[in-house]
Amino acid sequence: MTNTSSSSGTSTPEIHVRDLHKSFGDNDVLRGIDLEIGQGEVVCVIGPSGSGKSTLLRCVNLLEEPTQGQVFVGGTEVTHPDVDIDAVRRRIGMVFQQFNLFPHLSVTENLTLPQRRVLKRGKEEAAEVAAENLERVGLSEKADAYPSSLSGGQQQRVAIARALAMGPEVMLFDEPTSALDPELVGDVLAVMRRLAHEGMTMMVVTHEMSFAREVADRVVFMDGGVIVEDGAPAQVIGNPSHERTRHFLSRLLDPAMADVEDDVEEGEKGL
Ligand SMILES: Nc1ncnc2c1ncn2[C@@H]1O[C@H](COP(=O)(O)OP(=O)(O)O)[C@@H](O)[C@H]1O
Ligand SMILES: [Mg+2]
Repeated sequence: MTNTSSSSGTSTPEIHVRDLHKSFGDNDVLRGIDLEIGQGEVVCVIGPSGSGKSTLLRCVNLLEEPTQGQVFVGGTEVTHPDVDIDAVRRRIGMVFQQFNLFPHLSVTENLTLPQRRVLKRGKEEAAEVAAENLERVGLSEKADAYPSSLSGGQQQRVAIARALAMGPEVMLFDEPTSALDPELVGDVLAVMRRLAHEGMTMMVVTHEMSFAREVADRVVFMDGGVIVEDGAPAQVIGNPSHERTRHFLSRLLDPAMADVEDDVEEGEKGL
């Protein structure tokens, strides 16, 4: 939560995406993305389904290999052919819509396993770090529970704690609350809000506009594989300069009205 980001130009951005392209066959999904995220900055990425939001996140932590362009994390070019992919991924925490917890492991074991396997931490240290991070997400009392006994919101908070236990420099969230019942969304967003206030660098794909307004330093609107608009939340959400952004937001806030607008537009075009 700082505003000393990209525009200041005084420090290396924590995440720097330069002319990023990604194609699947002849489907050009990302068509030249340029984005800088400063240390401690929170950037929310919004945009219609299929606009390339997930692909962008997946290119940042190398779950997808870009077709063209560069990605830097903490000044290291992660797209460099000689890069140690595992070392890069250790620096980047990722939280998905689906929590992907191991059902046969307790909450604590879900947190200690990757620390032991990937970071080679000893049993005691891993357990200690697990406990610290469960406390961070408000779930200390669930340490010995199994995922199936938890609500979706609690499972997602465990998934966040699991990512944090690896000590990441940046956290990427891909629609972390989209699979949750509405009454469970708030607790997950509260954890993310706290993380933002603690100074974590975060890139969050979300449809939660109130979260974006309150917590994000910047909001990026993507459509058709390009960034259409990038600015302060009050500007991008409150007073967008592009018709595509306005249309997306009106559809999001009032789907019924957007359909009416579509009909009117189509009518005007003689469709
Ligand atoms: N692994 C893949 N193979 C082929 N096409 C993909 C793959 N991943 C994503 N796509 C395509 O890329 C486009 C953008 O997808 P995605 O990044 O998931 O968009 P969003 O997250 O904004 O909904 C879609 O047309 C999707 O079908
Ligand atoms: Mg997606």
